[in-house]
Amino acid sequence: MHYGGDYNPEQWTEEIWHEDVARMREAGVTMVSLGIFAWSRLQPAEGEFDFAWLDRVIDLLHEGGIAVDLATATASPPPWMHERYPEILPVTAEGVTLGPGSRQHYAPSSPVYRRLAAELVTALVERYADHPAIVMWHVNNEYGCHLHADYSDNARDAFRAWLRERYGSVDALNDAWGTAFWSQRYTSFDQVLPPRAAPYSHNPGQLLDFRRFTSDMLLECYLMEKEIIRAAGATQPITTNFMGAFKPANYQEWAEHMDVITDDAYPDPDDPESFRDAAFQRDLMRSLKPGTPWLLMEQVTGALNWRPTNAPKAPQQMAALSMQCVGRGADGVLFFQWRQSRAGAEKFHAAMLPHAGTGTRIWREVTELGAQLGSLPELPSGGADARVALVMDWESWWAVESPDHPSNVLDYVAVLQRWYRALHRRHVMVDIVPPERVTADAYDLAIAPALYLLRAGGAEALSTFVAGGGHLLAGPFTDVVDERDAFLDGGFLTRLGPALGVTIEDFGALAQPGGTGQSEAPLAGPFGTVAGTLLAEEVVLRGATPVATFAGGRRDGDPALTEHAHGEGTGWYLATVPDEQGADALAGWALDRAGIAPVLEGLPVGVEAAQRGSVVTVINHGSEPAVVDVAGRDLLRGEPVTEVHLDAFGYALVDTAASDTATPDAAR
Ligand code: GAL
Repeated sequence: MHYGGDYNPEQWTEEIWHEDVARMREAGVTMVSLGIFAWSRLQPAEGEFDFAWLDRVIDLLHEGGIAVDLATATASPPPWMHERYPEILPVTAEGVTLGPGSRQHYAPSSPVYRRLAAELVTALVERYADHPAIVMWHVNNEYGCHLHADYSDNARDAFRAWLRERYGSVDALNDAWGTAFWSQRYTSFDQVLPPRAAPYSHNPGQLLDFRRFTSDMLLECYLMEKEIIRAAGATQPITTNFMGAFKPANYQEWAEHMDVITDDAYPDPDDPESFRDAAFQRDLMRSLKPGTPWLLMEQVTGALNWRPTNAPKAPQQMAALSMQCVGRGADGVLFFQWRQSRAGAEKFHAAMLPHAGTGTRIWREVTELGAQLGSLPELPSGGADARVALVMDWESWWAVESPDHPSNVLDYVAVLQRWYRALHRRHVMVDIVPPERVTADAYDLAIAPALYLLRAGGAEALSTFVAGGGHLLAGPFTDVVDERDAFLDGGFLTRLGPALGVTIEDFGALAQPGGTGQSEAPLAGPFGTVAGTLLAEEVVLRGATPVATFAGGRRDGDPALTEHAHGEGTGWYLATVPDEQGADALAGWALDRAGIAPVLEGLPVGVEAAQRGSVVTVINHGSEPAVVDVAGRDLLRGEPVTEVHLDAFGYALVDTAASDTATPDAAR
């Protein structure tokens, strides 16, 4: 179990470094991410490097037994760079150049930025590749975090090259984008621009490709650094830190290039349900690279600085959320940052070592958590043996949130999270995967909400899943367009129709609550009467039978949920987006029908259960004490148990396969 945080020694004097290492040992820190924003200190001028200080820090950490995740420091270019090369700066769609003075002020496609980043990384890796303290390379930081897209001339040139590569000819591009519409037909790639500010809607194919391009440019930066590190002979794992469901970067594509998935997560402690969305994020990370552990690279010990209002974490909440990561496959928990800054934009951001020092609750909790993580035996590797797949797809996300749709207020991740929360309340383990990863061997139930853009391979996988015995619950606005964001011949649900036994004639957008027009579509079925939102589609039965019908509104009496036997499996189609209670009822019904067992039954509200191989983690996110029946070896207390008592934010990790597992009778 790795434990530690971002360490920014360049903000402190050498005297403090010595104290830091001593305190890190006291806190049980095993690893720090070093020098993430140290470029201006490492390279005071072009061609001039200063590594002497970093040598001393790394040696000091090494002597103290603290391993180093060495950052390449390329996320915040130093002032000399924009002074000499202003063309590295990114530009917004409106043509505003984003200046320096913050961080991430570089155009990812800028050849000058890339050359200078490569020079820094080359110098760093040549110096430290063999240093025994270095256990991992931390490339850049949160690619795309503040700069979601760049529209500069660098981007323009790179976008044209990217499109040439993708389409080969301008005719193929015209065909893919449907440029016959609105007189957009190009006769040369040199006429194509990033989707900069325009009088009205952009071409959807162009928007989608620009999203792909933006993700690819960031990934190219990562791969450039990774290749430099490997070429220098470094053998340590290489990673960059993700940000959960982060729209600009297609992590499902990026994952294969990460030796370890690492993630940064900042759930809002003011939101009593945010632990479920945090669990969604952990499960997404675990699902990106199945069977391998992942690391929580950043979280906060207490209050943040960047929300409009920044509530502190409640006592023990930080430890509870840390154990949620461990229970869901993480092999380490780290923080931003080790020592609270004295100056700068993040001085109010809590840290492992607070500004107020070691006599604080945060410090006590930090040292306790370090000791607990250090006491854990090796846990089963990442897998959760989930039998439920929640289908999430970045390209579909990009396309479904493009403008000019029947409903332009559909928030893709919010819809996914609503389903996820329903499954989480039922203590069922879930993998979050693209459609191509859904197989009947791996899963019994797949839920695919709003899978608007469906690639041929994804359609094939989902159909084969049903034919092979799986239960597919497809939500509305699914299988509408192909990978170009264009309709296919033959209407909608053209690929999944046979497995679902329905087609769609109209999407039936609903008004937003409080607006004029019908905003809710009640549906009645075996799960009771629940509310649908956003869409109430007109379903045409092509072999399926209705399980639930709309009860009122413009689709009164029409099918709202249908069922179709296909091969050995079942295809369900849901013609509306259920609200929170609706998703809850429907998820319960679908889980029953698919025969999915929870990790544990009968848990009090607010108690979470997660499975990692034979280890069951239970966490009480509520404020009332709870007792949970679970038999096995309590790994933190080192004793056999048949039940565990959890105070507010209390947790237990129970190995249910341990040889000294107590039986309920023996324990009595
Ligand atoms: C992350 C970033 C850190 C720090 C942190 C604050 O986005 O990687 O450097 O800024 O947020 O919460």
